[in-house]
Amino acid sequence: MYFKKVPVLNIEHVNEEYFVLRVRDEDLTKEVKPGQFFQAKISGAAIPLLPRPFSVYKVEGDTLEFLIKKVGPATKNLSLLHEGHIIQLLGPLGNGFPIVRDKKVLLASGGIGYAPMPYLNEILKQNGNDVFFYHGGRNKNDIFCEDVENCTDDGSLGHAGFVTEYVEKYLDAHDTDVVYTCGPEPMMKVLTSICSKRNIPIYVSMERVMACGVGACCGCAIKMSENEHIVYRKVCKDGPVFDGAEVIWDE
Ligand SMILES: Cc1cc2nc3c(=O)[nH]c(=O)nc-3n(C[C@H](O)[C@H](O)[C@H](O)COP(=O)(O)OP(=O)(O)OC[C@H]3O[C@@H](n4cnc5c(N)ncnc54)[C@H](O)[C@@H]3O)c2cc1C
Ligand code: FES
Repeated sequence: MYFKKVPVLNIEHVNEEYFVLRVRDEDLTKEVKPGQFFQAKISGAAIPLLPRPFSVYKVEGDTLEFLIKKVGPATKNLSLLHEGHIIQLLGPLGNGFPIVRDKKVLLASGGIGYAPMPYLNEILKQNGNDVFFYHGGRNKNDIFCEDVENCTDDGSLGHAGFVTEYVEKYLDAHDTDVVYTCGPEPMMKVLTSICSKRNIPIYVSMERVMACGVGACCGCAIKMSENEHIVYRKVCKDGPVFDGAEVIWDE
């Protein structure tokens, strides 16, 4: 894990809601795994005081990319940066997705839950997996790439309807060994139920509001059922990736 102050390489605005932030650093890109995240903050900024977690979106050589949705002060301020502005990055943090080999794999993301998927997709393919990828959004603004099966709630791009409907149909028609997902919790809850009925393991990447990001404050705890015992796990340290079947979704 590194704590570094690095210059922004560039910011690319995808549309009015999303942008990609790039930095270049040999250390930060050295051992980063899909599903891990960094705590990021504009260097010296007082508002917000705490850094925010962002998943690793892409790693290309020593370039690290984050796909970010503008939702509040930290993300809006980050979107205004330019080349050379300094940001603080702490990471890589968290466990990341377990990487299977030579399997039939389905990826399913929703909204900004797309962020960890391209890097995961790349590493899964490098490990001999046959990967199919569904991504869903409310509308075409939430769609980032044409090379995956996209769905929109309003039908403005790709298939019309919820990603969960398409995943269910896909699983009924294709043998699938494992599902990986990141997105809104209601979506991941439904996907976990769909997978459980078919005895397919599902790895879920949980996005909880975080404070410290390193396991010190318990602010990100989630309730899980492990070996029939109720336990609390920290999303930042024990996760953010968990076995979906062990998450107690209704809490
Ligand atoms: C492990 C992890 C990885 C993440 N990866 C990404 C990423 O790759 N790209 C990205 O854009 N965002 C990601 N997020 C979410 C991002 O960290 C939050 O959106 C961030 O807090 C926004 O900061 P802000 O100051 O702009 O808005 P805030 O003022 O912090 O939040 C604005 C609104 O969003 C809500 N909110 C904040 N964080 C979350 C959350 N995690 N879940 C649900 N609601 C939340 C707040 O309650 C508030 O209503 C990730 C979160 C986690 C935990
Ligand atoms: S954010 Fe502090 S323990 Fe997870």
